[in-house]
Amino acid sequence: MGKVAVVTGASRGIGFAIARTFAAEGCSVVITGRDGAKLARSAAELRRLLPKQTSAHDKGGAQIVAEVCDVRDADSVAALFAMVKQRFGRLDVLVNNAGTAQPAVAIEQTSLEVWRAAIDTNLTGLFLCTRAALPFMQAGATIINNLSVAARTVFPNFAAYNASKHGALGFTLSLRDELIPRGIRVVALMPGATDTDLWRQFWPDAPRERMIDVESIAQAVLYAVLLPPNTNLTELVLAPTGGAL
Ligand SMILES: NC(=O)c1ccc[n+]([C@@H]2O[C@H](COP(=O)([O-])OP(=O)(O)OC[C@H]3O[C@@H](n4cnc5c(N)ncnc54)[C@H](OP(=O)(O)O)[C@@H]3O)[C@@H](O)[C@H]2O)c1
Repeated sequence: MGKVAVVTGASRGIGFAIARTFAAEGCSVVITGRDGAKLARSAAELRRLLPKQTSAHDKGGAQIVAEVCDVRDADSVAALFAMVKQRFGRLDVLVNNAGTAQPAVAIEQTSLEVWRAAIDTNLTGLFLCTRAALPFMQAGATIINNLSVAARTVFPNFAAYNASKHGALGFTLSLRDELIPRGIRVVALMPGATDTDLWRQFWPDAPRERMIDVESIAQAVLYAVLLPPNTNLTELVLAPTGGAL
């Protein structure tokens, strides 16, 4: 495919599955996360997937780059995209995927720390990364914002997460309308319960066999990226294969 993609929060989970799919298609992929050691291991795994003719030794071929970045931090985000611009000169696909959940608690028991972690990561992070990436995204590029079904519905005892994702949907819809004249597609990705580490902190025994497999999400994202440039796909909604959780 030959595109240049940034996938935030791609050291594991949904982000890693998306990066894996892009790498297998011969894309250059920049993966980010806060844990540098984990990120380096994930990048090594992705490099093994690059098609042979575009191995890391092939100058001008696809590359996998691991960059530590905390999406809550404007300087960290600026450094990430400065590196991408310097290395590739353009960005074809931005997947704003980095996100965090919260423990299940009533609103009166929700600490400011929990509230800020959700809002800063899931909402402000989306804004910071998009703002830094846009100056070198051209017509035909795609932005995928990984929201959640929690962007439209609500889960009781998850007010911070719900609020961050509802806000992120508002941001995504504004972005979509602003970027239509520039020919940049903006897609709201809204998966239901998906089998990743995210569940460990609030429902360790969740029935994972009923959840969405990360690979299905990655394939849906690839589909959205490969559509003809003038296709105005706006949403990808995936529901758990084992019924509502
Ligand atoms: N799993 C689900 O059921 C589900 C359903 C719908 C939507 N989603 C959304 O999908 C996205 C990915 O979730 P996941 O389930 O794949 O979670 P995950 O397995 O916990 O992975 C989260 C990723 O985001 C990174 N990350 C977290 N905070 C970050 C920060 N401040 N800056 C940079 N990177 C950060 C993590 O790496 P580090 O910890 O090393 O930073 C990790 O790579 C989230 O936005 C989530 O809300 C998940």
